[in-house]
Amino acid sequence: MNDPRIDELMEFVRIPSVSAQSAHEPDMRTCAEWLLAKLRSIGLEARLEPTAGHPVVLAKTPRDPAKQTVLIYGHYDVQPPEPLELWTSPPFAPEIRDGRLYGRGASDNKGQILAHILGVGEALAEGPLPVNVIFLIEGEEEIGSNNLTTFLEKNRAELACDAIAISDTGMAAEGYPTLSYALRGIATMEVKVSGPSHDLHSGIYGGAVANPLTAAARLIASLHDSDGRIAIEGFYDDVKEMADWERTAAAESPLQERDIARQAGVSELAGESGYSAMERIGARPTAEINGFGGGYQGEGSKTVLPAEAFFKVSFRLVHNQKPDRILALAARHFEKNRPPGIRIEIVNGHGGEPFAFDPTSAQGLAARRALEETFGRPPALTREGGSIPILTDFQKILGHPALLLALASPDCRAHAPNESFPIANFLAGIRLNRALLRGLGAAGARPEKPMKS
Ligand code: BES
Ligand code: MN
Repeated sequence: MNDPRIDELMEFVRIPSVSAQSAHEPDMRTCAEWLLAKLRSIGLEARLEPTAGHPVVLAKTPRDPAKQTVLIYGHYDVQPPEPLELWTSPPFAPEIRDGRLYGRGASDNKGQILAHILGVGEALAEGPLPVNVIFLIEGEEEIGSNNLTTFLEKNRAELACDAIAISDTGMAAEGYPTLSYALRGIATMEVKVSGPSHDLHSGIYGGAVANPLTAAARLIASLHDSDGRIAIEGFYDDVKEMADWERTAAAESPLQERDIARQAGVSELAGESGYSAMERIGARPTAEINGFGGGYQGEGSKTVLPAEAFFKVSFRLVHNQKPDRILALAARHFEKNRPPGIRIEIVNGHGGEPFAFDPTSAQGLAARRALEETFGRPPALTREGGSIPILTDFQKILGHPALLLALASPDCRAHAPNESFPIANFLAGIRLNRALLRGLGAAGARPEKPMKS
């Protein structure tokens, strides 16, 4: 494939911009500078803005007050690539196989961001844009966007806009246009579990002293009841049932249970009873253990009663659930279920509120038309399980909900080895950008209020 646009994407993916790992700090800067040069090369005024963490890349067209302004958001940071040995081609040595570009960040979120930049570049080469455009590309999405709120507040005037567009969600089926109208929120914590003052001989003390690893396992198991519901008191207080049209949209989604099982590589699905898998992923909250450890991990056996253990848990939130309240309820739950002789210490991590907007609003309809124009069929409307923590701040600070126009393939393996982005989606993304800007520039696509959920 001899397309310079694809070469550019490979260049972008080659930069190991892993926000979570401090050793990659210089690469974060290199990546931000790469974007800066790219944005300037298509004729935008662009700069890097330092934050307390990784820099933000900001670019814009001159503001014509007669036109609507569209802010396009994305992130240039990527998840850690480990475990490296499971990649067919190395994570930062991108390779094209079977029409897909493989590499860390290809579909989360570099392919989409570059597609939007190239779409604007192509349009600018033909003449003035139908709207003013602002690109806001951050480097801390994968670590919770902690510094972006302050950035939005400080730059509120410069970032003033009429619509926000993001392509960082997944298509319901391969090549199937999809507008995601809701994302789950997130709240994370680490629980450190300790008991004896030092590791003990499990023969000399076992039977008389509480084992922190067993205690951690019990605390983990206490999170769910036998119906797969979360057993934390008050956890569901702010959760609502889906509206009828949402259940219909979920039932009609081209993504169905067998696809989810196939993509996940499991023989059957699991979870809370009474809801379809699509509903459980999009509209129900969850508690997931993301890490669990302690004790002897080496070869052979070692009869030890470890002094400490830990586990990491993340909650996905829906409707009106607030991260801080959920973390407080969870802390109370763990304290209540703490076995005698065991101490726990809880360290809260990052959080983000759930997001939803009305896909029948004027902007929602404009986004749906752009998707239909690009892909030749009306888009699926989905609630998605992932989180983009800054979305509610966009709403609060800039006053607009984000239009979530999916470009990632359902098989993209985001956050996992062998992440990939179909070249067809990359090229469609460039067309989608142009259709969207035309649609939002046309009369009628006026700013909208968020959906009352
Ligand atoms: N692109 C995802 C968000 C996403 C994934 C939306 C799947 C819809 C479907 C984003 O880059 C991401 O991974 N977000 C993190 C946020 C967290 C680290 C605060 C997530 O959802 O785990
Ligand atoms: Mn991600």
